[in-house]
Amino acid sequence: MADPAAGGGHLSGGRNREVCRAMNPLTTLVEARFDPHYHNKYATLMAAGNGALGVRATHEEAYATQTRGMFFAGLYHRAGEGETTELVNLPDLVGMDIELNGEIFSLLGGEILRYRRELCFASGELARIVEWRSAQGQRFTIASTRFVSAARRGLFCLRLAITAHDGAATVRVATGIDATQTNSGRQHLAERELRVFDNCYLQGRYRTLDNASDVTLGCACRVSPQAQVSFSAKNRRLLQHSQQTLATGECFTLEKCAWVSASPDAPDDGAASVALRALRECATVGYDALLAESSEARRVWWRHARVEVDSENEADQQALDFALYHLHAMTPRHDERSSIAAKGLTGEGYKGHVFWDTEVFLLPFHLHTAPSVARQLLRYRWLNLTGAKRKAARGGWQGALFPWESARSGEEETPEFAAINIRTGQRQKVASALAEHHLVADIAWAVATYWQATGDDAFMAKEGRALLEDTARFWLSRAQDVNGRLELHDVIGPDEYTEHINNNAYTSYLAHYNVALARENHRRLGVPDDAFTAQCEDFLARLYLPVARADGVIPQDDTFFSKPTIDLTRYRASAGSQSVLLDYSRAEVNEMQILKQADVVMLLYMLPWRFDNATAAANLDYYEPRTIHDSSLSKAIHGIVAARCGRRDEAYRFWRAGCDIDLGDAPHSSDDGIHAAATGAIWLGAVQGFAGISVKAGELHVTPSLPQQWRRLAFPFCWQGRQLHLVITHDALTVRSDGAVRLFINDTAVDVEGERTFCLSADVCKEATCNRMQ
Ligand code: BGC
Repeated sequence: MADPAAGGGHLSGGRNREVCRAMNPLTTLVEARFDPHYHNKYATLMAAGNGALGVRATHEEAYATQTRGMFFAGLYHRAGEGETTELVNLPDLVGMDIELNGEIFSLLGGEILRYRRELCFASGELARIVEWRSAQGQRFTIASTRFVSAARRGLFCLRLAITAHDGAATVRVATGIDATQTNSGRQHLAERELRVFDNCYLQGRYRTLDNASDVTLGCACRVSPQAQVSFSAKNRRLLQHSQQTLATGECFTLEKCAWVSASPDAPDDGAASVALRALRECATVGYDALLAESSEARRVWWRHARVEVDSENEADQQALDFALYHLHAMTPRHDERSSIAAKGLTGEGYKGHVFWDTEVFLLPFHLHTAPSVARQLLRYRWLNLTGAKRKAARGGWQGALFPWESARSGEEETPEFAAINIRTGQRQKVASALAEHHLVADIAWAVATYWQATGDDAFMAKEGRALLEDTARFWLSRAQDVNGRLELHDVIGPDEYTEHINNNAYTSYLAHYNVALARENHRRLGVPDDAFTAQCEDFLARLYLPVARADGVIPQDDTFFSKPTIDLTRYRASAGSQSVLLDYSRAEVNEMQILKQADVVMLLYMLPWRFDNATAAANLDYYEPRTIHDSSLSKAIHGIVAARCGRRDEAYRFWRAGCDIDLGDAPHSSDDGIHAAATGAIWLGAVQGFAGISVKAGELHVTPSLPQQWRRLAFPFCWQGRQLHLVITHDALTVRSDGAVRLFINDTAVDVEGERTFCLSADVCKEATCNRMQ
């Protein structure tokens, strides 16, 4: 445990990080320098979370440029007319006003003698150590640690230790619950009651302005016995003020234990007393024991999820650990009415909304490490079928049209308008909610991957059936007859720079697959053929699927090939910034061969069994130079398709670029939250790209293609009720399974129970148990 009070307040010798290092020396993320340009980036990257509660890693002391943030999964509210429903940025628990001998502590003043922040992925504990000389010339060590518990849903703990050097000093610290926090100025909460119980427990009760949800925040701050304490409640801040005069070398300590509870679906007057009980209990247990309990819960989680890589580049293991740390933090395992937001629980970006990112980029990780979580994510959609049917009906269609952006109610939450053109005052309509319909088939695709990986009959008879049938019905009604063939008009594919087009290959192939899945599921369940099945058969026979040209390139849509190309070098160099839109209007971009993100390449990724490697390679070569990769969902997919084509160097380059979306040096790229899909894609790249895992005709295929830089890749993998563990080197693949399982290694069927090693290289394998696969 890192004890800030130990060793004169220095954190470096903390036991907790020794534990962390023992587990893996690379599983930390370090901020070595204080740089205000990076405040918000690190507040995102180092955010703490447990799937229910997310807390941005802002500094305790205030900086005008840092955006604080604390979110509770599923707690959304709309601030008023013309506003969009958003994940509420809750009252702040992190902030502290620190005064050292009358001087306000801020790293923008005085002198920084030492600075280091380190997030330990294993324990989830964030530690900061600062040595600071005040303007008056007195040195202080200010150390803090904090974590969100992985064992108790509402728990956030923070510990602060301030040591005075160079003579006596008076330390004043004010902290508590600060409800002046807003979502960029939009206030969602009304203060209902503020209390201090037993001269110790602060509690604030808040209700969303629409009276629909309650939130209760409580905290207890235990300080050194010599400190004097008082309380205040003013201007939405409920605070404990602590003061202590320190002799040289003496330390002021503060241990803040906070409990957050929310009832998103209805006001709950009883919640406050339950929350107070939970807080009292935690405060009694104390920071060290609470951290130990949380670390143990994380240890168990990591055991079933961790991907280990032995690479020339140390950053590779760090990227994987970073990704998985956030995949854990962002996933609301406790609540099937919540799903994973595009920024997880780390920032206000995308207003906490849920996109296709969840089913396509995030669900596979859960499916193969904790299948019940994948099931729950699909149930979130199933529970929201009513809203999806309403949206379809509004458009004049049947079945279910899921909202492009979803929150809690299942209704469409996409803002109607995007950024304003401040010269004209005009706002651009957001077209995705109107025409980006591929999401419907993406959800069906996810249902199919769930079914293949789990064989969960009960799910497929109820939730799976409803999801497949209602999504299929949407496509049946969405298609139009053009001279005897069915076409899908006025859609937007994944490439959002090409809007309102006909016969987008991605959408059409996925819609076809969606209807085929529904038809097949009916057959499997023994549902008698009816008008629906007949319609499905007709759709499958008559839907137009764009065909590849002689050179193998599949047209993205009907008009794509007829559009001009321009030199994209400049825009590709600043991928992610949408800089092309500074030079061209959206309408102009629409009329050129410019892709925001993988589209046909995305199709190759989603349905690999439909296209051979030559086709995949031809499309990669055609579309990649035309793709800016302005979406974080793009590069990793190109990488996986490249890996499947055996283009290892290219695949690795893309994978690394995907890691850099959040972990790269750009100062502001992640300010408003993590790129959740990109973290999922880091896992996808390792497992589906380099390990070459794919499912074809319901069979599990492993076709490894390790990059040169990697010597070994190892990971756990759940498949049809079996727990597998795979270890891949350039020469061999070792599979361990806790029960009989059949898989295809480089397309050869093998059966494994217990452990078997297979030779992947032409060299003679020295392992006695080895089976040659090539
Ligand atoms: C991408 C979408 C994605 C969304 C949320 C957009 O920029 O184009 O594909 O779903 O971001 O991550």
